[in-house]
Amino acid sequence: MSRARQLALLVGLAFATSACWEQVAPTWFAQMKEQVAVQALEGHQPFDPPQGTIPLGGMEPRIDSPVPAFMPQAMALVNPVPATAASVERGKVVYGIYCKVCHGDDGMSNQAQVPVARRLSESGMPPPPLQAVPAYVDGFLFTKIRYGKPGMPGYPQIPAEDRWHVVNYLRKLIPRN
Ligand code: HEC
Repeated sequence: MSRARQLALLVGLAFATSACWEQVAPTWFAQMKEQVAVQALEGHQPFDPPQGTIPLGGMEPRIDSPVPAFMPQAMALVNPVPATAASVERGKVVYGIYCKVCHGDDGMSNQAQVPVARRLSESGMPPPPLQAVPAYVDGFLFTKIRYGKPGMPGYPQIPAEDRWHVVNYLRKLIPRN
């Protein structure tokens, strides 16, 4: 490298690394990066979610068991939704969307009336008539809807409150006799 080139390189490097604008007195040109800035939540803790809210992306804690509905923590769940006429009505709507296709209008999974029940029985897993519902506690039914069982799909996408409405509706549909 010629001397002239070496010199040019040195001058260039000196210029590039000297951060020349830093040498302008801040009294002349204030720099934005030196302003007082308050960062989001600086000095604050985030609030806890208000009581009774369901966090985005999560609902009840997951029950890790092959048979979640039979676990004590499932059975112990207390139905927080009173079985008002409005609740039963909402439960009926949700049942109509998700359950009727296999268990039929009356919950009896009648294969003569419910084509999907017939097909499932041909493949060896017929949906049973829901006669046993009165024998189950609310927490069992609620959890059973969430996780399903080998022969029945789980419905975690039904919001918890709607699942309680379905439970209330099942109690009306299949009363204890
Ligand atoms: C794809 C068909 C299908 C759909 C949809 C379905 N089920 Fe089932 N269900 C089954 C089958 C099959 C069984 C029996 C095997 C089992 O328990 O896994 C069953 C079992 C049940 C039982 C237990 C019955 C007993 O005697 O132990 C209940 C309660 C029940 N379903 C409620 C519901 C509710 C409520 C919905 C709607 C949220 C629903 N099911 C949606 C197929 C279905």
